[in-house]
Amino acid sequence: MPNPQLNANGELIHLLSTEGLPREILTHILDTAATFVGITDREVKKVPLLRGKSVFNLFFENSTRTRTTFEIAAKRLSADVLNLDITRSSTSKGETLLDTIDNLCSMHADMFVVRHATSGAPYLIAEHLKRMGKHDIHVVNAGDGRHAHPTQGLLDTYTIRHFKRDFSSLTVAIIGDILHSRVARSNIHALKTLGVPELRAIGPQTLLPTRLSQMGIRVFHDMRAGLKDCDVIIMLRLQNERMNGALLPSVGEYFKHYGLSPEKLILAKPDAIVMHPGPINRGVEIDSEVADGSRSVILNQVTFGIAVRMAVMSILAGNG
Ligand code: CP
Repeated sequence: MPNPQLNANGELIHLLSTEGLPREILTHILDTAATFVGITDREVKKVPLLRGKSVFNLFFENSTRTRTTFEIAAKRLSADVLNLDITRSSTSKGETLLDTIDNLCSMHADMFVVRHATSGAPYLIAEHLKRMGKHDIHVVNAGDGRHAHPTQGLLDTYTIRHFKRDFSSLTVAIIGDILHSRVARSNIHALKTLGVPELRAIGPQTLLPTRLSQMGIRVFHDMRAGLKDCDVIIMLRLQNERMNGALLPSVGEYFKHYGLSPEKLILAKPDAIVMHPGPINRGVEIDSEVADGSRSVILNQVTFGIAVRMAVMSILAGNG
């Protein structure tokens, strides 16, 4: 089956998932982002790569980091940015997602950045655009249900490459609610493709998908054993909004076993970095001393997110 993210020449036309993206494309996005990191440090931060283009931010689910950094990124590329206020849009009057898209296409949209609680919603839009012959309009998945969050996966891999330089000798642990995490899925696919030799999943059985071992990921239920000699620690939030029923005895019990405290962090390598996609829940999955400590790169991730999102939009718009 053809990859809906790529055209017949293997070029990126939508960014829907890190799954199935070739290593060359992932590396090209990271390399392009590196060129934009310099721009974000300049006094004049704008470049004209998306001048005259209209980017529509369609966030059907709450967001702080993703929505804002997409807006900053599009503006730094000189695009016109429109943030649809979903609560005040006609979706609240029963208009379907695809009818909304058709109307926005009539306003000459060039790119849709879509966050949706339903897994697959950005795919549905990309397929619809193809059916309608709108091959010049691009879709970027900004997080769909528990399925994928590709720009988060890319900014996480960018952060890892920035601090660790080379993927080929790393041990990376992803800790917590992997079952409901689109970030974990996007990270796993990107890191495997980029050549990380050891990926670990750490969490209680109720919060880990069953297929992890088949994907070559080492599974640990004991956090202390799983943290040993790790280079990179990616903490995850408990995705309470996606849980059906009680999967944990209590938040206190969870923090005791799977919260990242200074005592547990000692077990990782002395130069291990601590990451988290945000929003963080202090005292639930991470201790404040760790979140605010010298090993934390959580806020660096947010800053790199601007350059990575600039890179994705610039490449989709045909700038190489
Ligand atoms: N990491 C992330 O997706 O954060 P937001 O929900 O604030 O966008």
